[in-house]
Amino acid sequence: MSHGTWPQQPTETLASTSIEPLLTRDYDADPALVHERLRGKYGPVAPVDLLGVPVWFVLGYEDVLRVLQNAGGIWSKHVDRWHAYVEGRVPADWPLLPVFQVNSSAFQEGTAQRELRAAWTSALVPFQDQSQAQAKKLEHAIVRYADDLLDVLTEGGSTGWADLAAQYARPLPLMVANRLLGFTAARGEDVVMDIWRMIDAGPDAPAAFERLYAAMRELAATKRDHPGDDLPSYMIQAKPDFTLDELARELLMLPGLLDFTASLVCNVVVEVISNPDVRESLSVGSIDETVNRVALLNPPMANLTFRFPMTDVKLGNYTIAAGDPVMLSVAAAHADPRFAGAIDRQAIRSTRAHMAWGAGPHACLGQRLATQITIIAVRRLFDRFSKIKLALPADQLPWRPSPFMRALRSLPVQYQLAGDHVHARTAGPAEAQPSRSDEAAGRPAPRSPLWNFLRGLRRPR
Ligand code: HEM
Repeated sequence: MSHGTWPQQPTETLASTSIEPLLTRDYDADPALVHERLRGKYGPVAPVDLLGVPVWFVLGYEDVLRVLQNAGGIWSKHVDRWHAYVEGRVPADWPLLPVFQVNSSAFQEGTAQRELRAAWTSALVPFQDQSQAQAKKLEHAIVRYADDLLDVLTEGGSTGWADLAAQYARPLPLMVANRLLGFTAARGEDVVMDIWRMIDAGPDAPAAFERLYAAMRELAATKRDHPGDDLPSYMIQAKPDFTLDELARELLMLPGLLDFTASLVCNVVVEVISNPDVRESLSVGSIDETVNRVALLNPPMANLTFRFPMTDVKLGNYTIAAGDPVMLSVAAAHADPRFAGAIDRQAIRSTRAHMAWGAGPHACLGQRLATQITIIAVRRLFDRFSKIKLALPADQLPWRPSPFMRALRSLPVQYQLAGDHVHARTAGPAEAQPSRSDEAAGRPAPRSPLWNFLRGLRRPR
């Protein structure tokens, strides 16, 4: 495979190349510009500094796909394959280290990974296969959660300001996570709040992580003894030899994955608000096409956690040494002129040949669920509001600094409820009494910490 006019640099190693930091202010503001600069300077693979650690950053579509597909079986995600880590050259306080040390299925290889993946695949069937009763019930629950959140958001009146990221897009998938996990409503409330603290990586994140790990372990033990209609029980059914620690590690992946869903919801909302044609198309039921287009143009999982080659391998203009860390950039790959140049932007159906959901042996197993949550969230929002406009120009929206995700920090909007919704649900969750079935569905109680927290986010008009 030829990569244009860049000189071959076979003798350069990751340590010997002069590298520049990836995560700069420029990167937070406009990663695409940084990708293009790196592509112009180095070709499809660039050496970069990631918070003090040297990493190969892969920008080429074909190269990212080749590594993902792992046809020769030389690529591993297991942190023990990282030579610098094993040799103690990665600082113990490197901020991303906990991500790689968690050792869940996303970082395993061989038989262990295949078995855990099979458990996920089978446990998700009842919730993702629309012919199953659980999937129908889940769909209704997602609609109800969306409506409850919109009720709280609009309690102050039929017009106003809101942060759709904090008040809607982020809590919604976490409520779904809670339901999938099968926590009781009251326990689930604490868990949702801790998940939020952990994902935001603030000063209380380590304590929240400890509590969450303990909660997941306790949940695993409960479900082993008393199985229910939930993800942990189906996982145990699929893999009865799960240890409690093993299962707790898998369950802890769920909140993070659902937070990626929140960022997809936000990105789709921005696309719909900013583009009248897209808004028009919602009414004819083509939200799934919009979701695909947004995932293609702005993938929520922008860069993937590292892979390590087990033998030296040629990639781009470099030879990657065995045990070097390689970060695949889905976002940069989608903008690779060799891929992006071939996309017909006027096509009614956008290409599905993208990697927003990964590819190969670690490809996403929750794509259908994430898409379903996004579709329901967007549909309920635009059904209930007659007007929504961004409170900031689209190019000034604030993004969360992150090496892995492209997610809005906030999504400030001005809204107006549609006439038939102004009085439709005036009781809202504040006055509604939760029924037994609400409790069973993990729906938060009216005066719960979550609702109080969300009420605290409301902005005066
Ligand atoms: C918009 C939301 C989501 C996006 C963009 C997304 C994307 C991805 C991508 C790109 C990967 C591959 C990572 C890699 O190869 O390094 C992945 C893996 C995975 N995803 Fe998703 N995902 C989302 C939501 C979900 C949800 C909601 C679930 C489950 C309920 C889920 C389950 C998984 C699992 C279990 C893996 C690991 C598979 C493995 O390592 O074998 N994802 N996801």
